[in-house]
Amino acid sequence: MFLKDWIADFRASRRAERGLRGEVRAWEERRYASPSPSHIKRSVLLRLGIPNATWVETGTFMGDTAAMLATVASAVYTIEPENKLYQSAAARFVHDSTVHALHGLSEDIFPTLLPTLSGDINFWLDGHYSGGITHQGPTDCPVRDELSNISANLKNFSRVVVMIDDVRCFNPSVPEYKDYPDINYLVDWARTNGMRWHIEHDIFFCRNF
Ligand SMILES: C[S@@+](CC[C@H](N)C(=O)[O-])C[C@H]1O[C@@H](n2cnc3c(N)ncnc32)[C@H](O)[C@@H]1O
Repeated sequence: MFLKDWIADFRASRRAERGLRGEVRAWEERRYASPSPSHIKRSVLLRLGIPNATWVETGTFMGDTAAMLATVASAVYTIEPENKLYQSAAARFVHDSTVHALHGLSEDIFPTLLPTLSGDINFWLDGHYSGGITHQGPTDCPVRDELSNISANLKNFSRVVVMIDDVRCFNPSVPEYKDYPDINYLVDWARTNGMRWHIEHDIFFCRNF
């Protein structure tokens, strides 16, 4: 490695460390109210996801979770509608054959993607409008569509874990979250599909085994 590359790597890792410390400090100041810092959520995904399975992530954003999942998955499909975010993910993963960056809305891509999948699948449903540069589509939260597509394809899958982020937002009586279904919708969906469910770190988890 050239010295200038080593210096760039070193600076990037120092920036990441500072970011991580800042997130943890802010979490402590909120007395550990949700959401948990992103490195904690990612660690929980690794603990509860099926090992060596296919991952389907909605909402690529910067691609950091997709990159982490690629270290343990047989394949990662990550979906992002915002063009600049998609382009940068496509460039980031161009040499990583595990990660398939897909451009579009999850509600448009699921009907064609899910029928092509089989075996063990982990779904990380995190594709929603989050302010800033993120995409605001026809709905801020497409989870109803995503779940109905998953139900329609469940028979083709073996073991399945569905993880839905930001459970604190599933309260449509709050104006900001009017496009989110009530949390009971998630519980009913899990029960109807014969899945066990629980919540930790603001993530709704359900599984069919
Ligand atoms: C909270 S960020 C995702 C963070 C990422 N999953 C991670 O773990 O690092 C939400 C992302 O969802 C995208 N998004 C918005 N609407 C979407 C939709 N209908 N389908 C898929 N992604 C969507 C946004 O552009 C944004 O990049």
